[in-house]
Amino acid sequence: KEHTLVLVKPDGFRRGLTGEILRRIESKGYVLKGLKIKQADRALLEEHYAEHRERPFFQGLIEYMSASPLVAIVVEGDRVIEGVRSLMGTTNPTLAAPGTIRGDLGRDWGTGQVENLVHGSDSTTSAIREIALWFPELEYHAED
Ligand code: GTP
Ligand code: MG
Repeated sequence: KEHTLVLVKPDGFRRGLTGEILRRIESKGYVLKGLKIKQADRALLEEHYAEHRERPFFQGLIEYMSASPLVAIVVEGDRVIEGVRSLMGTTNPTLAAPGTIRGDLGRDWGTGQVENLVHGSDSTTSAIREIALWFPELEYHAED
């Protein structure tokens, strides 16, 4: 079965949107296989977002993601990686389509930081890497 890593980011958790985000994922028919509240440290986040290390927004991204607790979730289902990305909507919450998590619940706050409530792995390779990083105690991988 296919698995993906979802994060309810600090802004989503702080705003009390965890239940709403999980409701959308579960209502779609996907199954939760692991879930924890965690305040991520810089080392974990620098590893998680390693592909963005050279981008100008990297330090701000690490600050945003480490500022307060988040929720990490492993989700299972057929084509769940693509399916969750579709539920999330595009990166910029002002532009994300209505009907998506980011489009319905997110917006630009004028802080210069893109706060977009949720993360979902973007490929099979990313999902395997990210689940191992956030859930070293679980045997779940993207497909097994
Ligand atoms: P994730 O699921 O969090 O990986 O988002 P994504 O796949 O939609 O976007 P991407 O991987 O390109 O970027 C990762 C995260 O970096 C985004 O979710 C944003 O929080 C942040 N980010 C991306 N682009 C920008 C940008 O241009 N400016 C700022 N400030 N942040 C950005
Ligand atoms: Mg990404």
